[in-house]
Amino acid sequence: MSASFRKKTVRDLEPAGRRVLMRVDFNVPLKQGEVGDDTRIVATLPTIRYLLEKRARVILMSHLGRPDGKVEPKYSLRPVATRLERLLRTPIPFADDCVGADAERLARGLEDGGVLLLENLRFHAEEEANDPAFAKRLAALGECYVNDAFGTAHRAHASTEGVAHILKPAVAGFLMQRELEYLGQALEQPQRPLVAILGGAKISGKIDVIRAMLGKVDRLLIGGAMMFTFLRAQGRATGKSLVEPDRIDMARDVLDAAEQKGVRLALPADTLVSTAADGSAPARVAARDAIEENEMGVDIGPETVRRFADELKDARTILWNGPMGIFEVEAFASGTREVARLVAEATGRGAVSVVGGGDSVAAVQQSGLAERITHLSTGGGAALELLEGRTLPGVAALDDRP
Ligand code: 3PG
Repeated sequence: MSASFRKKTVRDLEPAGRRVLMRVDFNVPLKQGEVGDDTRIVATLPTIRYLLEKRARVILMSHLGRPDGKVEPKYSLRPVATRLERLLRTPIPFADDCVGADAERLARGLEDGGVLLLENLRFHAEEEANDPAFAKRLAALGECYVNDAFGTAHRAHASTEGVAHILKPAVAGFLMQRELEYLGQALEQPQRPLVAILGGAKISGKIDVIRAMLGKVDRLLIGGAMMFTFLRAQGRATGKSLVEPDRIDMARDVLDAAEQKGVRLALPADTLVSTAADGSAPARVAARDAIEENEMGVDIGPETVRRFADELKDARTILWNGPMGIFEVEAFASGTREVARLVAEATGRGAVSVVGGGDSVAAVQQSGLAERITHLSTGGGAALELLEGRTLPGVAALDDRP
């Protein structure tokens, strides 16, 4: 177990016959009223199954989307109950409100080995406000608390933080434990070389991560649209590519800091360019200083993939977060898929690989490479905050190991 993980877990519970209130992150994409991708649901099954085998009564609660404190039917968790029933092969009662008399009646009516799912926590504004009275109403549903919602652990909300101070014991689930152990290990005691690959559209959302990473990694490979802010900082023309003009100075500081710290920061040598971001115009490969005025970069190019392959050849630990291009457009997805392949190959040579963020994880799954990655994280924002070195409130609130 990683030195950084010092929290009690479900193994420290005596859950038989008790009502276990469990926070999960079922914030999953829905498509035509059905669960579009059940990765996050499947990832919590080990904890749920463990509790059911111990004859606990499990009450699951989650948010879905950002309904801003109002009841919005399109953010109902009902489709999740349907999927969960199929996965667990058991009927799952559903409470139309996460607090109140009906939820309490259903919770108290559970039998040993039964599961209840509560409606979206964020239908109440008190959830995100971390309102103590609301946390108390949630706590009233259970007799102990489990948090397996790594993806939401960076939020100090009533169901992730407030309730953990009221309902004891408050412990981590297996998914939470696994996520923290892999990420903690990679950051604290990595096998070197440690190579980070960062992508995504904006440097502004990742700047703190990049700064924190410069103190830890041996190499940093940059892709995604944020590369263009860096290219501008180097004085290159980037055409119509997405650039954050107010972050160019920041990008320059990062390039200087990397040099001072002896970190190899690899920027793409070439990029796929097009005149349209939606795939409706033809694309061509351009060297990074040959982007025409009317073109925008939409993916990394083949020379960049070759260079990234070189950087990953001897990697022993790899952290990857963020797509290399406009991944949702099929014609611009190959750079991200190629990186998924490179990370899987490096893992096959013995590297420990941790991949986080929706698009990067989707690229791994679509390429059929999930089994060849050490750990696919269910956390986007939470994983990034951890990489920044920040404390996650949903973890901090759980009981410490003696
Ligand atoms: C996520 O998908 O990153 C988590 O479920 C948190 O969602 P949020 O950013 O709406 O708080």
